[in-house]
Amino acid sequence: MINISELNERGWVTVDDISSKEDLFELGRTIGTPVLTPNGEYVKEIRRFSAAQAQPESQSALYGTGRFPLHSDTVFWATPIKYVLLRGYGDTRRPTTVLTFEDLFSDCDDHFMSLFRKSIWRVRTGKNQFYCSPIFYCGDSKGWRLDVDLMHPANISAKQIAPRLRELVSRADTHNLNWNDNTAAIILNWTTLHGRGAQPDNEGERVIERLYVR
Ligand SMILES: [Fe+2]
Repeated sequence: MINISELNERGWVTVDDISSKEDLFELGRTIGTPVLTPNGEYVKEIRRFSAAQAQPESQSALYGTGRFPLHSDTVFWATPIKYVLLRGYGDTRRPTTVLTFEDLFSDCDDHFMSLFRKSIWRVRTGKNQFYCSPIFYCGDSKGWRLDVDLMHPANISAKQIAPRLRELVSRADTHNLNWNDNTAAIILNWTTLHGRGAQPDNEGERVIERLYVR
C-alpha cells in the first residue's frame, strides 16, 4: 500500500517487493494510469551506453557512462508526466539521485527566485518547439520542470539564471536511491528531480526499468 501523502510531501517513496516489470506495472496502476512509450511498451528498460553508442542528444550522448545531472522527465510535454516509477537491477552499486525543487533552491535568494519565476524556455519536441515557463499548473497542483540540456533560455531572466541552474543540478548533496532486485521508487516528477550517480569501478550491467504514470 502506497502512502500517497508521504509521496506528496517528500517527493518520492520507495516500495519493497517489486521484483519484475509486471510488479512495477501493477504498482503504477495503484496510483494512476500507466502511459505507453512511443514504441508501444509500458515499462522501458534503460541501460548504460557510452557516448559513442548513444542516440544523438540523449543524456548518454552528453555524459557517456558518467553521472547525469538532476532533471525532470518529459519537460518537452505540455504537462510533464506526474509520476516516474523506477526499479533497478543487475550491478546496483550506482544509485539514482533525487532532490526536491524546494531543496535545490534552498540557498537561492529572492532575486534568483524572481528571475526563475519570470524565466521563459524554449523546448524542442521532435521537429517542433514550444516556449514554456518552468512552473505549470494542473488542476489544483503546481509543478516545476527543469532539464538544463533540453530547455534553452529564451528571455533575459532565463539567460541570467541558466549558468547557476546548471551548477545547482550538478550538486552532489542529493538523496540516493539504492537499488536491489526487489525495490522500486515512485518519484513525483512535478516536485522532485532525479539523476544518475557516479559510475563505480568495473561496473557490470545495470538496468533501470521505468514506467510513466499520470
Ligand atoms: Fe530521467
